[in-house]
Amino acid sequence: MCMTGICTLMTKWLSAVFSAPSSESVDEELPLAHIQQTFRKERLIRFWTKCAIVATFGLRIFRPQVPYNHMSGALPFTFFEAIGLKRIEHHEPSDGEFPLPELIEEQYWEASNGHFKGWAPGMTRLTTDDTQPSWAAAPLPTGFNRWRELSNLDNDDIIFNGQDPKESLKSFYDPVDDPLRITNLNHGLVEPLARALKDHDIPITHVVLVMMESARKDIFPLKNDSHLHREILSSYRHPDEKALRDLNDKLARLTPVAERLTGESGGFSSSKGDPPALETEWKDSAEPGMGGINVNGVLTGSTLSFKSAVMNHCGVGPIPIDFMGEVKADIYQPCIMQVLELFNQLQPKSTIDDGRFQDRNWTSVFLQSITGEYDDQSDLNRMMGFKKAIYREDIDKPIADHYHPHMEEINYFGFSEHEIYPYLQDVVRGALENNERLFLSHFTSTTHHPWSTPEEFHKEQYFAEDSFMEKHEDMNNYLNAVHYVDTWLGDMLKVLDENDIANETLVVLVGDHGQAFQEDAPVTGTYENGHISNFRIPLVFRHPLLPRLQITANATSMSVVPTILDLLLNTKSLNEKDSAAALDLMNEYEGQSLIRPYQATHNGRQAWNFGIINSGGTMLSVGSAAVPYRLILPLTPDFEYVFSDLDTDPDELSPLRSWTREEVIDQVLEHHGARAAGWVADAAKVGQWWVDERKRLWHHH
Ligand SMILES: *[C@@H]1O[C@H](CO)[C@@H](O)[C@H](O)[C@H]1NC(C)=O
Ligand SMILES: *[C@@H]1O[C@H](CO)[C@@H](O)[C@H](O)[C@H]1NC(C)=O
Ligand SMILES: *[C@@H]1O[C@H](CO)[C@@H](O)[C@H](O)[C@H]1NC(C)=O
Ligand SMILES: *[C@@H]1O[C@H](CO)[C@@H](O)[C@H](O)[C@H]1NC(C)=O
Repeated sequence: MCMTGICTLMTKWLSAVFSAPSSESVDEELPLAHIQQTFRKERLIRFWTKCAIVATFGLRIFRPQVPYNHMSGALPFTFFEAIGLKRIEHHEPSDGEFPLPELIEEQYWEASNGHFKGWAPGMTRLTTDDTQPSWAAAPLPTGFNRWRELSNLDNDDIIFNGQDPKESLKSFYDPVDDPLRITNLNHGLVEPLARALKDHDIPITHVVLVMMESARKDIFPLKNDSHLHREILSSYRHPDEKALRDLNDKLARLTPVAERLTGESGGFSSSKGDPPALETEWKDSAEPGMGGINVNGVLTGSTLSFKSAVMNHCGVGPIPIDFMGEVKADIYQPCIMQVLELFNQLQPKSTIDDGRFQDRNWTSVFLQSITGEYDDQSDLNRMMGFKKAIYREDIDKPIADHYHPHMEEINYFGFSEHEIYPYLQDVVRGALENNERLFLSHFTSTTHHPWSTPEEFHKEQYFAEDSFMEKHEDMNNYLNAVHYVDTWLGDMLKVLDENDIANETLVVLVGDHGQAFQEDAPVTGTYENGHISNFRIPLVFRHPLLPRLQITANATSMSVVPTILDLLLNTKSLNEKDSAAALDLMNEYEGQSLIRPYQATHNGRQAWNFGIINSGGTMLSVGSAAVPYRLILPLTPDFEYVFSDLDTDPDELSPLRSWTREEVIDQVLEHHGARAAGWVADAAKVGQWWVDERKRLWHHH
């Protein structure tokens, strides 16, 4: 099962440990010299949920940011933990009480109002005498457990799991009882959008969600004078004018589709003056000033892809534990596919096209050209409510509709995106033939390690030739993969044009996480690496008839689901019953809507952002929309506290590191002042509370 070098290395090292006569020789046998080289292989970890113990153990050893002394000293201990004893968690025992009680005192409570459920932490909705919303009387799809529990309560006869039903309800998410929740649904839509929607009908019949593998914000699009651009430039030690002109031409062609989708210019005018021709046949039909909403400042909520998928599709915070425990638990909010299925069930929809798209049924399809078998992804997709899914396993067999010989595998997961192109066409045509509304989700993959591209794809060299081998090979491959996927996105959009649905389709583009390279940080990859380059992601709500808006919100991908619902509702793309349900449900999610002014603070509280760090249970990124500070909070004793101020150090070139909470607060006080130090103290407590709270909400024990 465990192939690849890391396992061999592990085996070698393990036998060395067990035959080692003294600690000195253990140290000698430690593969410290191989750290740089082996570390890249860590990303293979996703392969290995089945070999989790070996992987956990191995990867701990190769973690370079831990001082060597500490590391070798802790090894035997770590080993016994890894072979089955529990990790020792060093947070204070918490009884679930919110650590900043002064912010949730009764004077701040808010009464319910229309669809707003009210806000009164410590109270549950039961005691506010809330009744079931009318939409919940229909048979409920999976994902709506807490409403099912509520209706059981109404019937007064079913005891949940043998518990007092009121007690059992307390283990569900309740927006009234969430001390962190800040809503912005009481604010109007951002102005240019409000005006456009007043004047025009802008239908959203279909929704396409593209989750983009390892998509860093700084390549969507690449921009002149960015950190990454400066890194590329600095590889040219003695650049002549021609070399720079050639480079500029290449960079101008790197992400032109991303430039159009975001409305952000890369700022690389080619030497010929004109914008470079697109390598896709897609023609952007959006008129100048149109194209939809581009959000800057977004961080992913998880650097492990499928935890990120749960967040993007279901609007929840994933479980801060290693690997995909989510697959064995109930997701604590309805996923968007389940909400659409609820709409289907709310009233019989018509198969006959009577002209009202709002009355058609939804279908939901997931599509990717790589395997669906890692990390139980196909189970997860089923759980999240996809009606249909197509993976490498489905297109790989001779009886598949578009099977052809010599399908080219480009990485250890499967094929390049273009292998699913004909299936994408089929899915779109099929939905239209069945008179259905399509929710299509697609995960890109070529931008995954090892960043290979198909053989026929013309690879460019972006970094200077002489510097190339020593340092920039991975990043150069990544940029090529980015260029490949940029063209693919255009090809995908072309399918919408060909089927005449571009003007009625919302395309949401979101990164699953970023990716740290040697150009960014001392440690590369996402695994146990809190660096900011793993977190900044693009987020675009593309629609050719929506006005072009540039929004900045220091939010996370938790806002994707509420924003989609808000857009469906306010473009009048839902019928009456569905609209009422959508309005109600939007008020149940934690994330704010990104088409309304983002509320960074409210009554002294701040909009916190949490980011789970691959593989989930060892450290947490804590930030807030209200301040530029960022804390990496260790969840086990093996990791340091890391603090940065993104205003003064936007690329986290020199973060502050400390082994204890007291020390990090002291250091922040000394170098960044009292406000920052106070924030760190709060962030550590709130982060730990959030971790425990996720475990409660996911019923994870
Ligand atoms: C890129 O930015 C730099 C500095 O802001 C500027 O001098 C240069 O002209 C820009 N390059 C292009 C191709 O516009
Ligand atoms: C729409 O979906 C509902 C719920 O799945 C189903 O009962 C109904 O038959 C569907 N209607 C049509 C026209 O397919
Ligand atoms: C989409 O809308 C634009 C602007 O109204 C229009 O020019 C274009 O023809 C429409 N395209 C289709 C395929 O309907
Ligand atoms: C978002 O965070 C950045 C970086 O810390 C900060 O400079 C900016 O002011 C924040 N933006 C908003 C809208 O809060």
